[in-house]
Amino acid sequence: MSTPSTTKEPLIRKCVVPAAGLGTRFLPATKAIPKEMLPIVDTPTLQYIVEEAVSAGIEDVILISGRGKESMVDHFDLAVELEAVLKARGKDEEFRKLRAISELANIVSVRQKEPLGLGHAVLCARDVVGHEPFGVILGDDIIDSDDPGIRQLARVYRQHGLAVVALMEVPEEETHMYGVAAGTDIGDGVIRIDRIVEKPKKGTAPSNLAVIGRYVLPPEIFGILETQQPGAGGEIQLTDGLATLQKTKGLLGYKFKGKRYDAGDKLGYLKANIAFAMKRPELRDSLLAWMAEVVRTGQP
Ligand code: G1P
Repeated sequence: MSTPSTTKEPLIRKCVVPAAGLGTRFLPATKAIPKEMLPIVDTPTLQYIVEEAVSAGIEDVILISGRGKESMVDHFDLAVELEAVLKARGKDEEFRKLRAISELANIVSVRQKEPLGLGHAVLCARDVVGHEPFGVILGDDIIDSDDPGIRQLARVYRQHGLAVVALMEVPEEETHMYGVAAGTDIGDGVIRIDRIVEKPKKGTAPSNLAVIGRYVLPPEIFGILETQQPGAGGEIQLTDGLATLQKTKGLLGYKFKGKRYDAGDKLGYLKANIAFAMKRPELRDSLLAWMAEVVRTGQP
């Protein structure tokens, strides 16, 4: 077990964001645009993820990317020509917003050449992460919280010095869609996990606590994933690696605070758009009035 940090240094400096998928659920939008670049209101999903990482003190974001997805890296680079145009037009506010995106974090891109699964995607970051604990954020899971999801997990890691995964209660009939964990509640939303399985068959889930896409992991996970055999769906699963980690070093779950949207699903993506639009003062009132009208008449 690693020693819990007592300094004010950010404990987790690196974060892995698996983003190599083809995004087939969002075709045709994703024919030429990475799924991660689809906007929630006016901001790419990936930017929310990177901002969440930065809020937890993370400096380096390691994108596990695939062919044709270079725009994800471009988004976090300086846009020299665009900035010059905005300056010339006196659009200072927009200029500042754009510049801030390029100053958010160091973005490192690593190619996952074959779609061998989430565990394999995380393993692709091994050389860049090195021998230190790191975060993992899955872009399909948007967590809306004043206290960003990965920051909550980093705090639990700092306190206990053990790997931690985000957990959320889901209806029994949905457990087969997730990694599912069971264990002992040790207080303050922390669970000492004694069983974790990926996508259990209906009726076999050990609990109704689903793994949601936030993890803080020790570097030992790489050695485990290296020899991990394919599991559910014939893929190298991160959850299976975590099951081994649970047995060797221990594993915690944390019932995070916040609202989660499944942005990998069309309905979840639409809900996230509405929820985030309602936080915008310039959109909220007219959106609410329109939604009330839709509900009243059953027509848009
Ligand atoms: C992945 C993980 C699963 C987790 C889920 C959360 O599955 O493998 O353990 O519960 O993310 O969204 P996927 O949704 O990529 O099939």
